[in-house]
Amino acid sequence: MCGIVGYTGGSQAAPILLEGLARLEYRGYDSAGIAINNGEKIDVVKAMGRLAVLCDKCGNGRDVPGNIGIGHTRWATHGRPSDVNSHPHVSENGRIAIVHNGIIENYAQLKEMLINRGRVFKSETDTEVAAQLIDYYYNGNILEAVARAVRELEGSYALGIICADEPDTIVGVKSHAPLIVAYGEDGNFFASDVMAVLNYTKTVSYLDDDEIAVVRSDGIKFYSPFLDEIKKEKYVVDWDIKAADKCGYEHYMFKEIMEQPEAVRRTIEPYIRDGRADLSDVLDREYIKNVSRIFIVACGSSYHVGVIAKYNIEKLARIPVEVVLASEFRYCDPIIDKNTLVICISQSGETADTLEAQNEAKRLGAVTLAIVNVEGSAIAKGADKVIYTKAGPEIAVATTKAYSTQLAVTVLIALYAAECRNSLSEDEYGIILKELLAVPEKMMKILNDKANIQYLAYQHFNNEDLFFIGRNIDYALSLEGSLKLKEISYIHSEAYAAGELKHGTISLVVDDTLVIAVASYGRLVDKTLSNALEVKARGARVMGITTESLKEKVAKATDEIITIPDTHEVLLPSLAVLPLQLFAYYVALYRGCDIDKPRNLAKSVTVE
Ligand code: G6P
Repeated sequence: MCGIVGYTGGSQAAPILLEGLARLEYRGYDSAGIAINNGEKIDVVKAMGRLAVLCDKCGNGRDVPGNIGIGHTRWATHGRPSDVNSHPHVSENGRIAIVHNGIIENYAQLKEMLINRGRVFKSETDTEVAAQLIDYYYNGNILEAVARAVRELEGSYALGIICADEPDTIVGVKSHAPLIVAYGEDGNFFASDVMAVLNYTKTVSYLDDDEIAVVRSDGIKFYSPFLDEIKKEKYVVDWDIKAADKCGYEHYMFKEIMEQPEAVRRTIEPYIRDGRADLSDVLDREYIKNVSRIFIVACGSSYHVGVIAKYNIEKLARIPVEVVLASEFRYCDPIIDKNTLVICISQSGETADTLEAQNEAKRLGAVTLAIVNVEGSAIAKGADKVIYTKAGPEIAVATTKAYSTQLAVTVLIALYAAECRNSLSEDEYGIILKELLAVPEKMMKILNDKANIQYLAYQHFNNEDLFFIGRNIDYALSLEGSLKLKEISYIHSEAYAAGELKHGTISLVVDDTLVIAVASYGRLVDKTLSNALEVKARGARVMGITTESLKEKVAKATDEIITIPDTHEVLLPSLAVLPLQLFAYYVALYRGCDIDKPRNLAKSVTVE
């Protein structure tokens, strides 16, 4: 969602801000803008649409000189996407300019209060209210004005503020939305995430809720809400700017699909010791023995990882697992005690619902474990225990490599818990671990054979409706296959448990409807194939996804087939997801879609 960046230092600010905004494009946005303090006044340029429109409008930054400024990519919440609703917003007198990520829930009351005091508003946004409120309290000291104003704000916000009268100061403050500050050689920064500044520095500090940062060209100071100065740790992030570049690929999504073998290897390696899946640094063996129930809480694709993990953890470790969408978990009054482990899965570590679900779980007394890709993110910081996926920066909105690394971590958890609880034979443990270590190599094989998937995507890219079916883990994986396709190709699709299709939805199957049957799970393959034959009998075209050893059987009941290498059943989704990602990618490519930045979608969903 909204991305914010700020810079003050020895260089011209506008080009640096535009580059930072380009690095934040992946978060999802519909308009963009910058505000530059040129020492006398604040100049604002903003534009609806892609960042390129903004760059054209300000001569790539040359038309707005000045060494200090703030920038923003907006994902509309209050007020439709338009030039006027874009950020930065300024107070009526032009003295204060701000950028904002989040939602100020009590903006209507505050707006009314300010209108009653004679203030005039230009936009429909909650952000303009914050700009006016800060100006209302401004009495010659921007830090004090911000501290005073935010006391009245309810909701979520990360704010970056500049003031025409204080030309070397940016103030940053946050509550329930991400904000970092960063230390460069020729100036300092603030931003929604490290991607915006990675070209200049890797040294950052993470702001906690209600803390205020004063960023100046010669240093950064931090304050409590009561304006006591506080110290913050500096961290050096281990991401490389090269990892965030396309490296010659046409799309980030394709690059990230291809990076999966390495990402999975990097993620599992630290937890394999002496031929065992060893999470003892993270989860105490005694604790795991006594866990009575696990909740897995997440959104989007991370939730789909949870659905597969439920099957695998229950199968191997015999612990009951419930998978709940984070937006539902927050309000469902979950039954939790100290023997309940709540696992929150999140690539970004910022997703508002997942973060709040984690807070709720802690409040209710659960132990929380976060599986997160972004170091220092709010979910990682808030959890009792953290396992980092090592996917590296994921830029494409549709997740691929983060999904695969999350899935691999859940297999590690299942194995480790099974060992702690003595619920798995040594032989089977050995086979699964060996197969887990072989996942990267087997993924490579699928990626090398991608031409067949591309061919099938070409055959089907004109379909407007399709179904994914499967049973057990194949069904769980179908959820992700369907979402991937919807997200980037805009084709309507649904994932169904194969046995459930005939309870209603089969009425939508007509001649030439494409049904993708994920039939990799040997134990249930015959049953899935019976369901495939049911839809074929009604005119559907069926594409099967199966393993090498099942391919002959599956070929008899389907029209087309994609195969993956054989592996242990708990690892089938780790391999079968690749053809589904590639199919979605090529279909979207043939349909001419904006693959990395699909319409209306945001990579980091920082509002409820
Ligand atoms: C957004 C993204 C999805 C992602 C979901 C959860 O909707 O577009 O790809 O799965 O958020 O994000 P998280 O960062 O918590 O995994």
